[in-house]
Amino acid sequence: MSDFFPGLAGVPAARSKISYINGQQGILEYRGIPIEQLAKHSTFSETAYLLLYDRLPNQKELDLFETNLRHHRYLRHQLIDLIKCLPNDGHPMDALQAAVAALGMFYPAPPAQSEEENYWAAVRLIAKIPTIIAAFARLRRGNDPIQPQDDLTHTENFLYMCSGKRQNTETSRALDTCLILHAEHTMNASTFSGLVTASTLSDPYTVISSAIGTLKGKLHGGANEQVIGMLHAIETASDVTTYISEKLEAKERVMGFGHRIYKVKDPRATFLQNIAQDLYKRSPESHLYEIAIEVERVMDEMVGHKAISANVDFYSGLIYHQMGIDPELYTPVFAIARVSGWLAHCFEQYKDNRLFRPTQIYEGQRNRPYVKIRDRTTRAS
Ligand code: ACO
Repeated sequence: MSDFFPGLAGVPAARSKISYINGQQGILEYRGIPIEQLAKHSTFSETAYLLLYDRLPNQKELDLFETNLRHHRYLRHQLIDLIKCLPNDGHPMDALQAAVAALGMFYPAPPAQSEEENYWAAVRLIAKIPTIIAAFARLRRGNDPIQPQDDLTHTENFLYMCSGKRQNTETSRALDTCLILHAEHTMNASTFSGLVTASTLSDPYTVISSAIGTLKGKLHGGANEQVIGMLHAIETASDVTTYISEKLEAKERVMGFGHRIYKVKDPRATFLQNIAQDLYKRSPESHLYEIAIEVERVMDEMVGHKAISANVDFYSGLIYHQMGIDPELYTPVFAIARVSGWLAHCFEQYKDNRLFRPTQIYEGQRNRPYVKIRDRTTRAS
């Protein structure tokens, strides 16, 4: 009998040089560089380049990459028309998945992807995803989409396309740091689903739309949207113990906690917590940060022995809330960042491809006779 690992826990699905995690020590590195250093010193576009090309760019390379990203922020009017036809009350992750799949029809990639084709697919996807998200966010509220601005950085431009206002440097730098921290995370569920699609030699647009569909679920990227709902529902820090114990007694998951790989606090959550603390210092909603800290303390007291700690999704929603971003956009913002990691894995897979085709353990019946419909009893035989 074959070994079976539910959820493929602990089963390596690929050899990769993109990122490294040590779940016992809380270490995460992109291409060998600790994320704390990248979060402090890098920008999202530079980090995306590092993930894609395995080295930090020199000034000329970075300028060219950023110029190309700027030029490709715009969407064809047919794509805006397509987004306009989507239901206003649909989830932005579904709109993003549909629009990204459609993007591939405007820029068909040849079956055997060349380095050149891959470069332009990466530039288009990284550049256009924020524009798609901002356009749907505005259209569903009855507002016209806002055109990208060439003088703004990747992150400043996204915030501008959402609100029509230029945000201060502190806010855009905080969001840019969040994007760096969300850019890549080894063989997680969405990366794996993208990789399976890439292994069929499907094009990068289809690969990314597969990954977006997987990121949406609340056990994965969708958890950040649930966290802010929980923090609002709790109301005050003194209600935390009752709220959490009721949830745990009901065998419900507390969103933003637990991780398949990390057995200590997710290093991204530590960094994000510092950003949240700074942002909430002068905020009239500082009680939300206090509730979050108390949730973390109570969770540690109640389930810390199971090695369950805060994950990346716990503090990110709190940060986006303070930036005025709509909760349904929290997971799409995650996708704005993660597209760079997904693409790096997609191109790594193309280079040394073997079709993913696992097996299964069959547990059903065998050799059953076909029964004609007139001879069947009430329950299917
Ligand atoms: N709240 C309460 N209990 C939890 C939580 C949680 N968030 N996470 C795990 N547990 C408990 C389980 O009930 C189980 O307890 P038991 O052994 O007494 O039955 C034990 O911890 C192990 O749980 P598993 O489900 O086996 O752990 P797994 O590795 O499969 O799950 C997962 C990881 C899905 C992330 C899980 O921790 C979870 O559901 N978390 C909440 C959702 C979330 O925050 N997702 C975002 C993850 S980060 C990301 O994807 C970007």
